Amino acid sequence: MLDDLVRLRAHDPEAMEEKIREFPAQCLLAWERAGTLPLPVPAVPFRQVVIFGMGGSAIGADLVRALSEKDARVPLVVVRDYHAPAWVGPGTLAIGVSYSGTTEETLQALTAALAAGATPLALTTGGRLAELTRAAGGVVIPIAYQARPRAALAHLFLPLLRVLGRLGLVADRDGELRAAVAALQVRRATWLPETPTRRNEAKQLARWLARGLPVFVGSRHLVPVAWRWKGQLNENAKGWATVEMLPEMDHNAIVGLGLPRPVARQARVLFLSSPLLPERLRWREAATAALLTEAGVRHRRRAAAGQSLLADQLELVHLGDWVSYYLAALRGVDPTAMAPIDQLKAALAANEGR
Ligand code: F6R
Repeated sequence: MLDDLVRLRAHDPEAMEEKIREFPAQCLLAWERAGTLPLPVPAVPFRQVVIFGMGGSAIGADLVRALSEKDARVPLVVVRDYHAPAWVGPGTLAIGVSYSGTTEETLQALTAALAAGATPLALTTGGRLAELTRAAGGVVIPIAYQARPRAALAHLFLPLLRVLGRLGLVADRDGELRAAVAALQVRRATWLPETPTRRNEAKQLARWLARGLPVFVGSRHLVPVAWRWKGQLNENAKGWATVEMLPEMDHNAIVGLGLPRPVARQARVLFLSSPLLPERLRWREAATAALLTEAGVRHRRRAAAGQSLLADQLELVHLGDWVSYYLAALRGVDPTAMAPIDQLKAALAANEGR
């Protein structure tokens, strides 16, 4: 079925395929645009960065945070909630990320940060978030890409990385980004719809995950990549998926691998790995995999090429996007539709103030 392009596209009336296909090119475009944007001017030097966002608009911030753990010059915190941390104040760069610009958690948290004296920055297509930021004298980075938020990841991730780099708050990754995108253009050839299943890793993974409960395991710079796989399988492929992290899962999850039996039989654990992970973490991966085998749980490992931390993230994010796309087709669902999210937001809007 996955090799019949007419049937494949019949499940994709809003052309999610095109959005996924465009990802490497959009990465470059978003990066270029962010190189010339006006920068926020701090009243006092920035001492912390807080990024507010939800769902598809928050994952880019997580990727930046995980990528910059070793080179960020100030603490960088991602908040997926309605509040701003108590330490937010005049030395804080408070970034609101929302594709629509209307997400209530993000708006409320940024409002609280503004009240505490933070310098605002927004990454959005418009909405209340743009208004709020402009009214406070902040910079708005416009997103000029029409897509569902999760399909606009290039524009929700790379402008953050580049602007923070230009502010000197994280490392400059210009060379790394360009090399990563060039490598991705080559690597992804075998994941595209026109490559048949027998040679297509993404289609094979989708088939492996189709009848099970996917569990994605990440560590270090790949933790947000595991979350991205989960989110994409939830939203594109419309099913359950879950995340574990190493080394944390070795302190709890491994005790319960075999029970309840029906869940253990259904679980499909995928380790998202890299040669760039410290040896100790790779050793843990192997030891954890051995425990899964003992408990009768299916598992696989997919390592990125290890060209750079950023290249690893882009490679595995893009592979996961294709997997979610094929899994949607196997399940006969439209990868773009997201009725429950839209319905819940409408219900919340109708009950404002509660
Ligand atoms: C939709 C998606 C959602 C939204 C989330 C927040 O594709 O991925 O997770 O990103 O509901 O909405 P925005 O991004 O408009 O702030």
